[in-house]
Amino acid sequence: MSQTRFAPRVFSGIQPSGGLTLGNYLGALKRFVDMQDTGDFETIYCMVDLHAITVWQDPEKLRHNTRELAAGFIASGIDPEKSVLINQSQVPEHAQLGWVFNCVARMGWMGRMTQWKDKAGKNAEKASLGLFAYPSLMAADILVYHATHVPVGEDQKQHLELTRDIATKFNHDYGVDFFPITEPVIEGAATRVMSLRDGSKKMSKSDPSDASRINMTDDADTIAKKIRKAKTDPEALPSEADGLKDRPEARNLVNIYAAMANMSVDQVLAEHGGAQFGTFKPALADLAVAHLAPISTEMARLMDDTAEIDRILARGAERARAITAPILKQTYEIIGMVAPVEA
Ligand code: TYM
Repeated sequence: MSQTRFAPRVFSGIQPSGGLTLGNYLGALKRFVDMQDTGDFETIYCMVDLHAITVWQDPEKLRHNTRELAAGFIASGIDPEKSVLINQSQVPEHAQLGWVFNCVARMGWMGRMTQWKDKAGKNAEKASLGLFAYPSLMAADILVYHATHVPVGEDQKQHLELTRDIATKFNHDYGVDFFPITEPVIEGAATRVMSLRDGSKKMSKSDPSDASRINMTDDADTIAKKIRKAKTDPEALPSEADGLKDRPEARNLVNIYAAMANMSVDQVLAEHGGAQFGTFKPALADLAVAHLAPISTEMARLMDDTAEIDRILARGAERARAITAPILKQTYEIIGMVAPVEA
């Protein structure tokens, strides 16, 4: 089927289920800004509050976290004029198309999702039905815009494959070429930022150890201290990427440096190869502080005026619905829903 008729459109989302980490920033936010600024795409970015409630959220905290995440997007460089910035629950077509996709996706597909298996653990019986259906709503987030490209970190790859499966099955079952087969965009040195305490674990907001991650709201001293204390090995840095193969902690710090400095790993090693961590870590800390401190200051400033954040989100929802309402309407026509009588 021809996929050429779809205009280049980017969609991506982040859960407002706690603070942002350096992993979210390098794996997602910074790349969202880059894609916005190329001007090659229409860009739509989303706080996915309906995904967050697949596990219990304190209502007041969720509201706060959603606004703080919006502030994080804007402080990182998302311009709400250039991009459409939205909160998922304010654009009802996401959930409406999500239901349709619940009827397209198969139980077996959902059961194979590693994130479901990790999060539900041994106690799947007690997990919410929403957690199981999570990837189907994610497919709806993307496809309700006919988005063609989705920048994410490595951990979302399987969900994006499922999005392609849902689009393919829908198009096949109804004999249409209606939904695009979306391209995941998983690029750069930091698509999987690892814990600072354990190079085999992803940096995550849910890790019980705060020392394992850099939070976007950490102050300069905290950032420098966490990097100084990051787990490493006693060797000097190699001068070529190959030398990082069996050194996950060293590789992680070099990847972080590369992503933040907009350099390749080879370029970082050309500059720092042979250096001990006693030298490299302070250089990395300086870079991280220079990069993150202005963002966290701007986030705090934006959070002083939450009414303005709410206005930005209301405007974003209005712009989003100009895209999503017609796509949902066409979907309903395709699947045989009776259309409402025009007033
Ligand atoms: P979430 O909220 O867990 O993470 C948001 C984004 O940050 C990336 N990320 C990382 N990247 C590199 N290293 C890390 N340690 C790291 N931790 C997180 C994630 O890959 C993601 O890109 N299901 C999604 C949210 C979502 C979504 C969507 C994304 C809902 N609908 C539609 C894209 C399109 C999630 O839970 O992301």
